[in-house]
Parts: sequence; structure tokens; C-alpha cells
Amino acid sequence: MAQPRCRSVLITGCSRGIGLGLVRGLAAASPSPDLVFATCRYPEKAQELQQLSKQYSNIKLLQLDVVSESSIKKVVKEVEEIVGDKGLNCLINNAGINVLASLEEVTAETMLTIYETNTVAQLMVTKAFLPLLRKAAQLGTGMGCHRAAIINMSSLAASMQLVQANEMFLKVYPYRIAKTALNMITRCLAADLKSDGILCISLHPGWLQTDMGGNMAPMQVQEAIPGILSVLDRLGEKENGSFLDWQGETLPW
Ligand SMILES: NC(=O)c1ccc[n+]([C@@H]2O[C@H](COP(=O)([O-])OP(=O)(O)OC[C@H]3O[C@@H](n4cnc5c(N)ncnc54)[C@H](OP(=O)(O)O)[C@@H]3O)[C@@H](O)[C@H]2O)c1
Repeated sequence: MAQPRCRSVLITGCSRGIGLGLVRGLAAASPSPDLVFATCRYPEKAQELQQLSKQYSNIKLLQLDVVSESSIKKVVKEVEEIVGDKGLNCLINNAGINVLASLEEVTAETMLTIYETNTVAQLMVTKAFLPLLRKAAQLGTGMGCHRAAIINMSSLAASMQLVQANEMFLKVYPYRIAKTALNMITRCLAADLKSDGILCISLHPGWLQTDMGGNMAPMQVQEAIPGILSVLDRLGEKENGSFLDWQGETLPW
């Protein structure tokens, strides 16, 4: 039986790459959520996103810098005014940064910068949206994006068990360590929020051609989006606290 529909989704980091692809995929999906909150830190510079929001009336373009406390507070208020008592069904913590840093190159400063954007920010954004996720959860049953869900955009590079198999990631110490910590956030939230009916997973979107993924990546963003959306659609209690890839395969922590 088909899942009930996800009414509202908020995505961070939608100016380009996977975030932009998710907004495009969700807006064009049938059925599409009633509200797709596409957030980015510089809306005035996000030309493609602006175009999309003119094309689809369910896209709400909002400013959000995930490392700014005041920006987070402001966006939560804006979303609350729109969703009201229905709350927010799905939060996709997508925004992220990377920098090449091998063991020889890594510095404390890079470690902290990447940790702030790829780990701390996800927890702070999630914490700020919890009241709205809880509101949505109270109105639904079961578990999944139709009710209330937090999707943390992680990476294969975060897998501790696959370190030997993925030596190329040895050049990105700060990124992979921050994503491994993000995976721990997923596990904690999944355990903590289960009784509220809020699901949380880590998702590896695939190695994709974006500014971050580079042009050696085997897939374009638009090739992975249908898979990602179908994984999100099928999430249920069984998947709570799991680490999945864009095809729904379980990855080892
Ligand atoms: N591409 C891949 O192969 C791959 C693989 C595994 C995981 N991922 C993960 O997927 C997510 C998206 O990656 P991507 O490939 O789409 O990267 P990308 O093309 O570099 O895009 C990153 C996005 O994050 C935004 N961002 C960065 N810092 C931000 C901040 N402080 N506040 C708000 N937004 C911020 C950027 O906004 P600006 O335009 O303002 O900079 C941009 O929209 C990341 O979490 C990444 O780690 C990607």
C-alpha cells in the first residue's frame, strides 16, 4: 500500500549541486509535497533556484546560513508562519563543505571549520526545527517522511568499516571525520526521537558530479535524484537509525 504523502520538506544548501537537484526532483514529483522549503545562504545569487521557484508555486525560497544562529532562528519563524499547526514533515540536512587535506596538510583550523558546517550545524538546525517536526509527528502514524523525518546527508567516506576499501578519502581527513560524527548524531537522534515518532537516517547520495564531487564522479545529480527520492519515500520504522545509500542499500558504519 502506498505511504501517506509528505506535505512539507525543508532542504538546506539548495543553491547548487544535490540540494538544487532535490528541489527540482521534489517540485516535479507526482504527487509533489505541498511545500518545498528550499533554503540557501545567498538567495540573491542562486539564479537557478530563483527560476525554479518562479516555475513551481510550492517552492518557498528562504535564506538560511546553517552556521548562523540568528539565520536559523529567523528561518524557523518563517517556516512556522507558513506551516502553522501542521508542522514540518521532513528536514534534509544537505548543506556541506569539503576541503582537500591529507595527514600532512590538515590543520586544527580546517578541522574546526569543517566540523562546524558539516556536523555542529546539522545538530543545531535539527534542534531548532524539532518543535515543528514534533507538531507534524503528532498528526501522523507510523514512521517516515509522511510523518516526521530527519535526513542527514552523509558520505561513504564516513564509514569506519570501509576505510581500507576507500583509500582516496585519505586526502579528506576533516570531511570524513566530520561526517562520521554526523553519523553518530543520526544514531543519537534516531534513539532519542523514536518515541516522538520522528525518524532519522544518514544518507550517502552517491558519488555525483557537483562542485564538491568533481567531474570524475560517475553520475550526474539528476541520475541519482529519482533513487534518493524513492529511498525517502519508502522509509519506515525498520530504517530508523540506518545508514543508506541512494539505492536503499545499507552501508556499514
Ligand atoms: N557530490 C558528492 O559526490 C557527494 C557524495 C557524498 C556526500 N555528499 C554530500 O551531499 C551534500 C551536498 O553536496 P554537493 O555535492 O551538492 O556539494 P556542493 O555542490 O559543493 O554544494 C554544497 C551546498 O551547500 C551549501 N552550503 C555550504 N555551506 C553552507 C552554509 N554555511 N549554509 C548554508 N548552505 C551552505 C552551498 O551553498 P553556497 O552556494 O552558498 O556555497 C551549496 O548549496 C553535502 O553534505 C555533501 O557532503 C556529496
